[in-house]
Amino acid sequence: MSELVIDKVQETTRKEDIQNFKIDLIRKRKQSGSLIPLLQSAQDSYGYIPEKIIYYISELVNIPAADIYGVITFYSQFRLKPLGENIIRICEGTACHVNGAKSILSVIKDEIGVDVDETTEDGKYTLQSVACLGCCSLAPVIMINDETFGNLTADSLKKVLKNYQKVEPSLHEHSSTNE
Ligand code: FES
Repeated sequence: MSELVIDKVQETTRKEDIQNFKIDLIRKRKQSGSLIPLLQSAQDSYGYIPEKIIYYISELVNIPAADIYGVITFYSQFRLKPLGENIIRICEGTACHVNGAKSILSVIKDEIGVDVDETTEDGKYTLQSVACLGCCSLAPVIMINDETFGNLTADSLKKVLKNYQKVEPSLHEHSSTNE
């Protein structure tokens, strides 16, 4: 298998990241226990672990691809699909749970049409669930990328999501909590 395989999945990644990954492959392929660092390196470079890269690593480290899949799915840090353009994190910690996180979650699911740990088909959103976002007094809370939205109701949440769907950067510059 040639390096063409790696080059083929470069579309959305930066050249220097790929270069670093290739250097890592060369350095680590003969080291025992190099699989996890190589997978981390691949994910850092591509944003996820593309199927073709799994086969490429498999050949280099002499571990069956099926076993590598097993490792990837065992560790939650690894992804087999690219993340969406926007990451929505819904908090399901205790404070948020008792303040209606469940209904907030179902509004998000209805609005964007995906479940937790899924990405919309257009690649715009990935929905993730977290245990606490560190601002429990604002429960229920979500984050979209690095913005926090608290004290959410179904209506205020719909407004927040609508703003993101408009793809107007200025709308993202203000507001972090809902009064
Ligand atoms: S429990 Fe949701 S922010 Fe802490």
